[in-house]
Amino acid sequence: MSEIESVLHENRSFEPPTAFRETASINDLETYREMHRRSIEEPEDFWGEVARELPWIEPFESVLDWSEKPVAKWFGGGKLNASAVCLDQHLTTERRDKVAILFEGEPGDVKSYTYAEAHAEVCRMANALAERGVKRGDRVAIYMPMIPELAFALLACARLGAIHSVIFGGFSATAIRDRVADGGCTAVITADGGWRRGKVLELKKVVDEALAGIDSVHTVFVVKRTNNEVAWDERRDVDLLAAMAGASAERAPEAMDAEDTLFLLYTSGSTGKPKGIRHTTGGYLVGTYLTSKYVFDLKEDDVYWCTADIGWITGHSYIVYGPLANGATCVMYEGAPNAPHPGRFWELVEKHRVSVLYTAPTAIRAFMRWGDEHVTRFDRSSLRLLGTVGEPINPKAWMWYREVVGEGRCPIVDTWWQTETGAIMITPLPGAVSTKPGSACLPFFGVDAAVVDEDGTELGANQGGLLCVRKPWPSMLRGIWGDDERYRETYWSRFGGKYYFAGDGARRDEDGYFWIMGRVDDVLNVSGHRLSTMEIESALVSHPGVVEAAVVPRPDDLTGEAVAAFVTASPGCEPGDAFADELREHVAKEIGKLARPADIHFADALPKTRSGKIMRRLLRDVAAGREVLQDTTTLEDRSVLDRLSAEGK
Ligand code: PRX
Repeated sequence: MSEIESVLHENRSFEPPTAFRETASINDLETYREMHRRSIEEPEDFWGEVARELPWIEPFESVLDWSEKPVAKWFGGGKLNASAVCLDQHLTTERRDKVAILFEGEPGDVKSYTYAEAHAEVCRMANALAERGVKRGDRVAIYMPMIPELAFALLACARLGAIHSVIFGGFSATAIRDRVADGGCTAVITADGGWRRGKVLELKKVVDEALAGIDSVHTVFVVKRTNNEVAWDERRDVDLLAAMAGASAERAPEAMDAEDTLFLLYTSGSTGKPKGIRHTTGGYLVGTYLTSKYVFDLKEDDVYWCTADIGWITGHSYIVYGPLANGATCVMYEGAPNAPHPGRFWELVEKHRVSVLYTAPTAIRAFMRWGDEHVTRFDRSSLRLLGTVGEPINPKAWMWYREVVGEGRCPIVDTWWQTETGAIMITPLPGAVSTKPGSACLPFFGVDAAVVDEDGTELGANQGGLLCVRKPWPSMLRGIWGDDERYRETYWSRFGGKYYFAGDGARRDEDGYFWIMGRVDDVLNVSGHRLSTMEIESALVSHPGVVEAAVVPRPDDLTGEAVAAFVTASPGCEPGDAFADELREHVAKEIGKLARPADIHFADALPKTRSGKIMRRLLRDVAAGREVLQDTTTLEDRSVLDRLSAEGK
């Protein structure tokens, strides 16, 4: 616990701008406080009312059942369909002809779909999937670029009651194979390729490699996007756009139970393989719907752009389900923020008149580095609200976002949440809560968050501790696919089943504001992407030239954290740049490029305790180039550490 000591001293505070407040749906602190109080003290009334704003096929009978703690059931007896919540409900309103998805490809191709058009596409895709036997309860893996068909794929699965499992397009064939096998997926939706920095990312090729020797997948649906040449298995592969062209634009949505699984999304934890986080239909939609409505303060004429990839939870919740359930116009962009030039994002903001922008601290820091002129040469007067997510944002980047991007006019919502929480948990409401640079501010409705010590005792103001949630909330995960015990163990065992433990350290200041201080477990956060140190270590040791490896985070100005690996090479392997590069490629192949170590330190031995455990906390100091001032009395051989530290100098 002594490690969790906040070094931030940030006293600035910004009130919601008057102009923003005038139209905000919640525009004073008292209203927020009263609603929050009610959501905690009378959760059933509060959430029952919110849930009734969504279109149910059959109404729910109860709101919350917590009797099988820690597995919550929300909206028992209710039936609904996520694709109908996102699309069908708008077809009888003026939103029918409103743009739902406004897509721009990296090459600059633009295509938009109204709610009516998106509905037709989703029905066609659902029919094409069903034609090949995809049905309720099946698991479908999705590995695609950021094109509209990716959003349609999620909704088409949901329409059929099939469970989608999206795998981020940067993951390797091995990572796909593991996820397809773990989820028991029987179909895959992919594309020939996607555009990234002027090059084609050959996705179908990676899928072919991943599925080699696996016969549980009966169909691979391929969207032709880049028209690169791809291998074709006549029995297994289907041209999805061609199949959709011949399919009906109507398909009735399956009536799903509120607690039926909507999707799996794999995320890294402290131990073992990635876990398939399981989200269900009713609670997840209620949570993403309400947070989108209030945190982004969505208005009918907003053009909303979340820059995340749908391969991560942010894209699931805040490109697809939350905003569409609110009938918003969502921008989707295929490419990189700096291709073909470093002002690309701001060019898109100007061109599409984006009013609400939600992005990540790592992107903000990159833009800061590339220079203000790439931002300021585009018109940003359409922007009215800015958001960030994925990692702690340093006050300097926060201020730059506010002053340069937002011209001092736009409130910033720094939103803390996780794959597991499904929806935003700690955030300012932009019209009601004063913001402080670097703080995620206050809990959202229904979130009973606390900072506690190792014994679960709530800590006082400004004391660093562990961030916990004391009550269930609708969009919480319901478990880990195929491993309920691991769910209990990972999230609920730390405090004997009393609290959900998120894995983050935090403090609360004298105003009750939360300051998130990063992970306290063996999870790295590189550019807002969660990676497990253990997973990277096991990828490294699977290389025949590696005897032992330890991976720790190293602070990085741009990516927040970077992967630093300490490696003991096998006899006969020559430590050096060439071998380091080979290991980087090996990790990229095993997990994906995002896990590639930035630093590889070769060592003849790793610092261990007398009982043989690698002391990663000491290696964190070495990786950061800091002097090791921590307690080293349990070290078996101090000289190992001294040699490593000396090399780092
Ligand atoms: O450490 C926290 C960090 O990201 C973790 C969750 O990662 P993931 O499940 O991939 O979801 C990212 C997008 C929701 C958290 O445990 N994190 C996320 N948002 C913030 C954050 N850390 C500080 N401030 C945030 N706003």
